[in-house]
Amino acid sequence: MKRDLLSIRDLTKDEILGLVSKAGRMKEELASGKLPRTLAGKIVGLIFLKPSTRTRISFEAAVYRLGGQAMFITGQDSQISRQEPTADMARVIERYIDAIVIRTFAQSEVEELARYGRIPVVNALTDHSHPCQILADLLTIKEKRGSLDNLTVAWVGDGNNVANSWINTAARLGFSLNLACPRGYEPDAKVLEWAASERIGKIVLTTDARQAVKGADIIYTDVWASMGQEGEAAQRKEIFRSYQINAELLSAAPSHALVFHCLPAHRGEEITDEVLEGPQSVVFDEAENRLHLQMALLDWLIGSKGL
Ligand code: CP
Ligand code: NVA
Repeated sequence: MKRDLLSIRDLTKDEILGLVSKAGRMKEELASGKLPRTLAGKIVGLIFLKPSTRTRISFEAAVYRLGGQAMFITGQDSQISRQEPTADMARVIERYIDAIVIRTFAQSEVEELARYGRIPVVNALTDHSHPCQILADLLTIKEKRGSLDNLTVAWVGDGNNVANSWINTAARLGFSLNLACPRGYEPDAKVLEWAASERIGKIVLTTDARQAVKGADIIYTDVWASMGQEGEAAQRKEIFRSYQINAELLSAAPSHALVFHCLPAHRGEEITDEVLEGPQSVVFDEAENRLHLQMALLDWLIGSKGL
């Protein structure tokens, strides 16, 4: 049976940990020139209806590194711009290529693509979630800390798509996640409810950023206005003012805490230049690991299929 990655919830705990370990091994294989070309003869379609630097380039690079072919598909150059139904598109594309990586707006679109098509579908970000980002972040955390055990992650800022994926991950792996968000900008209530019903992990929601970073191993932030919310940017800048990752906030966290940002960052808004460029920031290693994790993911879905 084909597998998809539409949400972290599509994976078991063992699969998440397996993908992270596999990504670490493939990173070493790439560095030593021993990466097997397990995607030879495979074509991966990359449908991007929103801009992307990291996700698009790292997926394309992952496909090529593994010996496959990547096909970049935009909205305006395909019939997507003329509202061809997703269900029709799914049943056509599956006859040409081996997997689809898609970045779009509604989570329901990636779900529909997966439901109607017989090839694996990977969510490369929707308004609701960004699972590939968090899987790659787990690799970075494991590398920097040595393990994923006894982990406390603090999310500071907007309760957005990346935050939702962190909640799903905490409930799958069972770590502590403190979320500090302004009132009215909390993560999806249904995601929080689901996580609570899983009864593993400890998820705490607060409006107090200093409280959230106390005891945190990882401090994570993202833009205050996500793609599609540009019209709210000015208003959000005011509302989120006390949720900036800056030197003062870091002083409330343990000295070993590492700063993560999925990027792109808006310096001077959700994070200061000083912190982003400072010794606790790992954002560029974090971005690199998108490549390695996605190599592992594609190999698992359509290559060797092993973990
Ligand atoms: N972090 C991330 O997904 O970046 P891009 O929007 O550049 O792909
Ligand atoms: N929350 C951001 C993440 C970008 C990688 C957005 O959706 O725009």
